[in-house]
Amino acid sequence: MTHSIKFWAVVPAAGVGKRMNADRPKQYLELAGKTVIEHTLLRLLSAEVFAAIAVAISGEDPYWPELEVSVHEKIITAAGGKERADSVLSALKSIRALASDNDWVLVHDAARPCITATDIHHLIDSLVSDEVGGILALSSHDTLKNVQGNGIVGTLDRSHIWRALTPQMFRYGLLKTSLEAAEGNPAITDEASALELQGLQPKIVEGRPDNIKITRPEDLALAQFYMEHQND
Ligand code: C5P
Repeated sequence: MTHSIKFWAVVPAAGVGKRMNADRPKQYLELAGKTVIEHTLLRLLSAEVFAAIAVAISGEDPYWPELEVSVHEKIITAAGGKERADSVLSALKSIRALASDNDWVLVHDAARPCITATDIHHLIDSLVSDEVGGILALSSHDTLKNVQGNGIVGTLDRSHIWRALTPQMFRYGLLKTSLEAAEGNPAITDEASALELQGLQPKIVEGRPDNIKITRPEDLALAQFYMEHQND
């Protein structure tokens, strides 16, 4: 019997977002009438491609159960972990019985609410025949400096520098074993870095610049502006 390949989304949402200086984790701040995480999840659902979305939530999170989307039939709640990579691994384990090793997983930050269905489909169409998988990324327009203390010690060749965004798309089995092999390694700040440690070369797919990550207070106004001007 042949198994048809499925697509799963994993959303790490167990961070506290210290740089926002807010009274609650940044994914629960209000943005255009909803919380940040509701926008993110509704946009992933609107892509109409995922078998389910596994969301990693902190054990001490009182906000998540209050959201209607938390009981959506396609949403699975998993326990968050100490670091982002731990949260992603926990979410992957929560769908172990449902997913096959060859299925694709798209990992997307809860804090990137401006993701569009266009970008999700662009990533999938670009990588679905690839051996390894890859990530949405943006080239750097600024000149990049290598700094020690507050002094510049060099200028990087920006033609080789890309900014990693999400979603990041990898096969379930390869992603899980790569994250397990890298457990506890502080250099693993995204999924691609876990695969790089295995000697693999994930691809980059140019993403949209409006797919910002909410990190600082001013990012909420910028996200609202982008949302009002997106029409796909
Ligand atoms: O802090 P940063 O913006 O890099 O976090 C990226 C994403 O990872 C956020 O959606 C955050 O909620 C999530 N995260 C997590 N578990 C952690 C730390 C961060 O799910 N322990």
